[in-house]
Amino acid sequence: MLRIRAVEFVRRMRGASQPHLLRCEDGGDYVVKFQNNPQHVRVLANEMLAGRLALLIGLPVPLPAFVEVSPELIAGNPLLELEIGSRRERCAAGLQFGSRFPGIPSQTLVVDFLPDRLLRRVKDLAPTFLGAFVFDKWTCNCNGRQAIFYRSVDQEGSAYSAALIDHGFCFNDGDWSFPDSPIRGIYPRRLVYESVRGLQSFEPFLSRVENLETSELESCVHDIPAEWCGEQPPQLLRLIERLYERRRRVRQALIDARNSSLAPFPNWA
Ligand SMILES: Nc1ncnc2c1ncn2[C@@H]1O[C@H](COP(=O)(O)OP(=O)(O)OP(=O)(O)O)[C@@H](O)[C@H]1O
Ligand SMILES: [Mg+2]
Repeated sequence: MLRIRAVEFVRRMRGASQPHLLRCEDGGDYVVKFQNNPQHVRVLANEMLAGRLALLIGLPVPLPAFVEVSPELIAGNPLLELEIGSRRERCAAGLQFGSRFPGIPSQTLVVDFLPDRLLRRVKDLAPTFLGAFVFDKWTCNCNGRQAIFYRSVDQEGSAYSAALIDHGFCFNDGDWSFPDSPIRGIYPRRLVYESVRGLQSFEPFLSRVENLETSELESCVHDIPAEWCGEQPPQLLRLIERLYERRRRVRQALIDARNSSLAPFPNWA
């Protein structure tokens, strides 16, 4: 398990799980979601599992990490707190989920949205979002698809790179179920799907998912701590079994999405 110690609080991030940016001993910065976040403790297990699955099939996601947060770091930083309803609560110490920030924060511009003109120029735009669509169907991501776009601050005019983020609601949040729907997971900016001509447009991601082996899936969960899994940690193994069973159903899910009322793929004849 790659465990990295957090050494410094940098800033709070936006978002319903109230993540915080922490600098870690490896010199990297990580967007950290805490065990006592206001969503669900399983958001951490979901992020780690989904991040690893995404890497397995070759998608650009920030490196997922186990971040160790000491009680001293929490005690020394008044801003390391969460708003839970009307209460304020200190962020939990111990093992938390971290998503690696792409580069050095002071030298890297990161945005959640780009105007069409810049979105069109993002590096690997189509494979990133078509791969993400395969992935979201497979994992039943119950949140809208989210990505960050980043570039060096001093390279104005250069193309942005994309990374897929926020997998806390894959496997239906804390439920670990798969309420599939043909209209789920469609990125609102439809230009990312313009190149889709048929099922072959979703390669190589579709075949990668279909051909995953049990051992590859198991390797993604073996070290996820029980304390990230809520009341019934053994359900994590059942989740992996379900993902294995579902891998050959993604193809049909893509066809169902194409035929749905949202008609996301206008060039798929
Ligand atoms: N690895 C990362 N590097 C840089 N910024 C990131 C990274 N991960 C997340 N962010 C930023 O932090 C914000 C919150 O992250 P995320 O969406 O995962 O949290 P959330 O609590 O699930 O938010 P939401 O309210 O969308 O559910 C994102 O909108 C993005 O701007
Ligand atoms: Mg989010």
